[in-house]
Amino acid sequence: MNSLTLKSYAKLNLVLSILNKRPDGFHELKTIFERISLFDTITLKKTSGKILIRCAHPHVPKGPKNLVYRVALILKQDFGITQGVEIAIEKRIPVAAGLAGGSSNAATVLQGLNRLWNLGLSDAQLIAYAAAIGSDVAFFLYDSPYALGEGRGEKIKALPIKTKLWHVLVTPRLKVYTKDVFGALNLKLTRKKDDVNILLPFLKEDNLYSICSNLSNDLEPAILALKPHLGLLKDKLLDAGALGVCFSGSGPSVFALAKSQKHAQAIRAAFDKRFAQVFVVSTI
Ligand code: C5P
Repeated sequence: MNSLTLKSYAKLNLVLSILNKRPDGFHELKTIFERISLFDTITLKKTSGKILIRCAHPHVPKGPKNLVYRVALILKQDFGITQGVEIAIEKRIPVAAGLAGGSSNAATVLQGLNRLWNLGLSDAQLIAYAAAIGSDVAFFLYDSPYALGEGRGEKIKALPIKTKLWHVLVTPRLKVYTKDVFGALNLKLTRKKDDVNILLPFLKEDNLYSICSNLSNDLEPAILALKPHLGLLKDKLLDAGALGVCFSGSGPSVFALAKSQKHAQAIRAAFDKRFAQVFVVSTI
């Protein structure tokens, strides 16, 4: 095998509860991840020597700042691989948007290089690499549309849930840095109820209206403190007919829940695409 083409999906957080700040500076959290149908396409090709990233998107780093570069470098060093690899990323997932596109790409490259370079890594070993690379990477190794995430997001438990949700995903064309959002967080203001356990039974039962009224993201006050006008985006989605709305991760992406694909397309039509990228996506 000389090359391999793989899909790299995005995620949403249906609930994101921030529990406390840890001595290492990260925050302990509890979240429900949902894998969605928006994906990047990654092609890995064996080469001689170097790690090369090709991507037309101007904001995707082409060197060691890209998590996929780090994955390739760590595996090359740990397994004494002399070959190189060309990693071509066709980017559709908005960058730095709360959708874990970079983390998903890292998980995909980890799985892909395990095959391309015949490393023989077990699932448990892949998960250990993923956790060392970034908080959101491990989720994408599980072949499960929903999972519970704990720790700093890297401790994953796949959830046996079959519910298929339809969303309108709106990613404003502005930058919000994860680090700044966590920095603006006032932990005293966050709720103390167990939002994950409140949502889970409704998600299992496919109770759409109760899912919608129990979406939550503890980072929302911090996101709105940095970008107050993003609150209007949530209002606009609700005015356009969304059943529920929530920020994903540290934003700025906001997602809505819709009754069906057709309903999601109708909500999408209300948005001016000059100010935001707007997608209709489903659980996958
Ligand atoms: O995981 P990622 O690299 O996107 O995180 C960026 C920054 O967000 C971290 O350096 C940290 O400051 C903050 N963060 C946190 N707790 C987490 C995840 C991220 O404080 N669980």
